[in-house]
Amino acid sequence: MRAKGKFISLEGIDGCGKTTLRDQLYDYYKEKYEVLVLREPGGTEVSEKIRDMLLDVRNVGIKPRTEAFLYAASRSQLVEEMILPALQAGKIVIADRFMDSTIAYQGYGRGLDIEFLQELNHLCTGGLKPDLTLLLDIDPEEGQKRRNQDIPDRLEKEGLEFQSRVRAGYLALQRAEPDRIKLLNGGASIIELRGQALQHLAVLL
Ligand SMILES: Nc1ncnc2c1ncn2[C@@H]1O[C@H](COP(=O)(O)OP(=O)(O)OP(=O)(O)O)[C@@H](O)[C@H]1O
Ligand SMILES: [Mg+2]
Repeated sequence: MRAKGKFISLEGIDGCGKTTLRDQLYDYYKEKYEVLVLREPGGTEVSEKIRDMLLDVRNVGIKPRTEAFLYAASRSQLVEEMILPALQAGKIVIADRFMDSTIAYQGYGRGLDIEFLQELNHLCTGGLKPDLTLLLDIDPEEGQKRRNQDIPDRLEKEGLEFQSRVRAGYLALQRAEPDRIKLLNGGASIIELRGQALQHLAVLL
């Protein structure tokens, strides 16, 4: 199924610097490779509509399991419509969040059963996993400070305790899969982080 492209995902709690790093990596590689950057939830027309539903602060009634299914639906569409064709065409795909977010947020954050979520991930990705995942680890207070100028979305409103559980979840995932998931210090400068990320990517590309 997998072709010659490479699939990289960026993970970490809110405000850790995923989108900033994604844009840095895109700028670095765009001359040399065909690079596709994506965000989750979103990245396709249908997935962006699901994103609006998920992040809308007025949707106070969404249950955790419904939330997990909506993320899965968005991801399923993204994999089939964008990621697999790009990998088959030999592109580098850089995703701002992917399946580990489900385990960290809906599992460790919301308390849903981890095995159920792993199964759900498997169903919506068809078994596709990133070749490399960069986890930007940061203190939740620092992450919140960085985002202070933004209006928080539905998940960002959850607060520091929720973010701490999500962070712990990510660190547990990293310990379980150290070959795929590389830990970066999200508190470092953008330049330093970019350097660390490029070193990991150099091994892969
Ligand atoms: N290494 C860094 N050092 C200092 N500030 C940073 C760093 N990386 C990003 N920032 C700043 O922190 C803020 C949050 O960064 P960014 O949007 O990239 O995080 P994110 O992980 O994508 O957040 P979200 O989960 O909310 O999408 C931005 O204002 C960005 O400019
Ligand atoms: Mg972002």
